[in-house]
Amino acid sequence: MAQQVRGVIAPGRGEPVRIETINVPDPGPGEAVVDVQACGVCHTDLHYREGGINDDFPFLLGHEAAGIVESVGEGVTEVAPGDFVILNWRAVCGQCRACTRGRPWYCFDTHNATQKMTLEDGTELSPALGIGAFADKTLVAAGQCTKVDAAAKPEVAGLLGCGVMAGLGAAINTGGVTRGDSVAVIGCGGVGAAAVLGARLAGAAKIIAVDLDDRKLATATGLGATHTINGTGTDVVAAVQELTGGFGADVVIDAVGVPETYRQAFYARDLAGTVVLVGVPTPEMRLELPLLDVFGRGGSLKSSWYGDCLPSRDFPMLIDLYLQGRLDLEAFVSETIGLDDVEAAFAKMHHGDVLRSVVIL
Ligand SMILES: NC(=O)c1ccc[n+]([C@@H]2O[C@H](COP(=O)([O-])OP(=O)(O)OC[C@H]3O[C@@H](n4cnc5c(N)ncnc54)[C@H](O)[C@@H]3O)[C@@H](O)[C@H]2O)c1
Ligand SMILES: [Zn+2]
Ligand SMILES: [Zn+2]
Repeated sequence: MAQQVRGVIAPGRGEPVRIETINVPDPGPGEAVVDVQACGVCHTDLHYREGGINDDFPFLLGHEAAGIVESVGEGVTEVAPGDFVILNWRAVCGQCRACTRGRPWYCFDTHNATQKMTLEDGTELSPALGIGAFADKTLVAAGQCTKVDAAAKPEVAGLLGCGVMAGLGAAINTGGVTRGDSVAVIGCGGVGAAAVLGARLAGAAKIIAVDLDDRKLATATGLGATHTINGTGTDVVAAVQELTGGFGADVVIDAVGVPETYRQAFYARDLAGTVVLVGVPTPEMRLELPLLDVFGRGGSLKSSWYGDCLPSRDFPMLIDLYLQGRLDLEAFVSETIGLDDVEAAFAKMHHGDVLRSVVIL
């Protein structure tokens, strides 16, 4: 018997979101229904609403969520009703070429629920990133549920499901930041601020935060940045070099994802250093660089999808560090809001007023 709950729908390209009654089927084989407790508002939800991801409207938005497993379908062994879980968009398949090579954090065939959630009239919904958690309950593949310590606050835990994990992982997993490194992070919104926190966790000695907004630089300082650069009217490359003995940083993380910031990242790193692109460019963007500089500067140019995270490995570990007071994940929760405040939260995000607004259900 399907249940009827409230959900936030993006009905069409550029149209404001609205709350609708949605049908959530009982879980089939390999599926789970999760009673959502909290879900953060991410830039990607806005991209969906604007038609920037694809045209599969109507979307059921929301994908940075934590909740309690309500029921599971046949054959589900990894989670059980009552488990406190973070939802992930990398439910590793175990069989694709990345998984079989022992690199499941790149899994190319992540699982989602097979059945569809629908509107009352039967219209099928496309859940954002295969999750759809701006809803009282949602249906996912059981592998999308990662069990973590239930002592964590849901509004904090849920953020690991997307942007905060992407930033932490860009530093820790993709960038391989380690003790003594110098790191620069360009763009200190939710993702970049998490990269600053990740760099500190990994033991970086110098962490340079770059943004155009002094409010973001202040937050980054609170999370561990040792130096800040306001890029407005500033030569960012020269400023990073000046702070690193004239050489550049060992790892530079671009958490904006436009050609201008990528170029800054490319030239602001030391010889043989690493660039990590975690901000997401749009299709029309182009980059031109002297190929000789790509060769001559050595090192590596990497991109980070979801912080190259392995949810089963990283979520419980990061939640434990947060519960021990060693990882300030609460700093990312700028405000808690209701299900009908999502449209207003998009506006605040657009104006840079928040790191994350989190819907409490
Ligand atoms: N790779 C992934 O898996 C992944 C996951 C989630 C989000 N993202 C992407 O990460 C990016 C950042 O997301 P967010 O939630 O932090 O967004 P955000 O809007 O909160 O933050 C962007 C920040 O960049 C700053 N900025 C903009 N232009 C700048 C410039 N030229 N120089 C310096 N700073 C500049 C802004 O002031 C803002 O603080 C987005 O592109 C988002 O889509 C990637
Ligand atoms: Zn796989
Ligand atoms: Zn997201």
